[in-house]
Amino acid sequence: MPQIDAIAPRVRAAGQEHLLLGVESLDPAARAAFARQLEAIDWDALPGWIKRYVRAPETPPTPDALEPAPYYPQSSERKPAWDRDRYRGVGEELLRAGKVACFTVAGGQGSRLGYDGPKGCYPAGCVTGKPLFEVFADGVRATAARYGAPVPWYIMTSPLNHEATVGFFATHEHFGLDPNDVKFFPQGTIPSLDKATGRVLLSEPGEVATNPDGHGGAIRALYESGAVKDMRARGIEHVSYFQVDNPHTRVADPVFLGLHAAAPDSSGEFSSKMVAKAAWDEKVGVFCKGDGRVCVIEYSDLPESLAKETDAGGSLRFNAGSVAIHAIGVGFIEKLATDAASGLPFHRAVKKVPCYDPELGEQVDPTEPNGVKLERFIFDAIPLAGSSIVYETDRVEEFAPIKNASGADSVETSKDLQTERAARWLEAAGVSVPRGAGGRVDAVIEISGLTALDAAHLRERSNLPSAIEPGAKVVL
Ligand code: UTP
Repeated sequence: MPQIDAIAPRVRAAGQEHLLLGVESLDPAARAAFARQLEAIDWDALPGWIKRYVRAPETPPTPDALEPAPYYPQSSERKPAWDRDRYRGVGEELLRAGKVACFTVAGGQGSRLGYDGPKGCYPAGCVTGKPLFEVFADGVRATAARYGAPVPWYIMTSPLNHEATVGFFATHEHFGLDPNDVKFFPQGTIPSLDKATGRVLLSEPGEVATNPDGHGGAIRALYESGAVKDMRARGIEHVSYFQVDNPHTRVADPVFLGLHAAAPDSSGEFSSKMVAKAAWDEKVGVFCKGDGRVCVIEYSDLPESLAKETDAGGSLRFNAGSVAIHAIGVGFIEKLATDAASGLPFHRAVKKVPCYDPELGEQVDPTEPNGVKLERFIFDAIPLAGSSIVYETDRVEEFAPIKNASGADSVETSKDLQTERAARWLEAAGVSVPRGAGGRVDAVIEISGLTALDAAHLRERSNLPSAIEPGAKVVL
């Protein structure tokens, strides 16, 4: 069991001796827990992180000569032409062979949503109020049933929400999934740092303030938790990656998986979906090509002059917005996780972090952001892939995120999009849907993944109504 006395020299050498103030007054159990926390910190790397991200924060380098990343367009009228049916076939074959797993990153703190619980438990269904986790579970079940092979689902939690997440699935009997096919593992955490001094913050006496290490922490966590080993044992070759807060994600899209696995310019290591940006200043990362490699440039790092550039047809040149849906090769995860040289960089976020001041001996509830949280981003893995492709999808079809309590990207906007998508699917199947001013659907419609995974799938259903009544609330 680690002892504080044994770790103290490393703590001092890293300039963090304030952490040791008052430890003698902790009871033995608290001392032991604190020692375990201190032991887990990477004391060798910490001074470098403080220098780089707190004392002299660097703006991440933007590659010279940025170009828009090429992508596989959605419309068959746009160049380059590509054979959607062929790639759908490849993806379906992967699913039939049981070579695809789903992977959800659900370790975030969801601070903007302000919901008291893991974000995946948030009621999202526009009629049923079904939680986000159930929306995805329906998709996973339906995909496994459609292709006649298990689709294991890996869910990354954080130490802060792990038990609540696992308990939620148990209470709901895993939403009809085989519990052996749903695997949870917590991501790593990293100490939160004082913005002014770079000191490691304490949340209370004898407890380091920590934050989850970002969705990019998934690479290491997938490997160290044994999830990758479990995938290998099951014959999984590719992972369909998505976030916990976008109920429109197609959990395993055969066309996208087929492109990822078989397109001539894909290394099968890391592929991404994009939607056309809604406006030049939309706050989404943009797929670019720099130094010969595809990458995501955060909206705040893309020079305004480039963000506003238009092509001859008047469309934004840099229009490929990231929706954080990826396909990742299992071998690539292994390679990244075991190759220290390709560890993902950190990004800093300045936030309010309530903390304990060991010198004053009092709790501090900051009114202004006082802390730096370090996070890794999954998309920093893209330039590390041999070659990486981008595939365009439709915004209504696949992007209805729930980030905020109200306003843009909130549950209200997501619910409107759910109804709009359901209406489009129904109309494509010949069902009449009432629409009012501006084409807005005059009904609330929710289609479960168990009923249909996409518009074509819905058309196969024989028991659809001929029309939706105005003002109706409909669940299919
Ligand atoms: P966001 O960047 O939206 O962060 O995460 P968040 O923590 O959910 O919400 P805010 O910013 O505090 O309001 C995008 C996705 O990445 C996951 C989230 O759970 C979400 O699915 N994520 C984020 C992790 O799994 N771990 C992290 O450390 C951060």
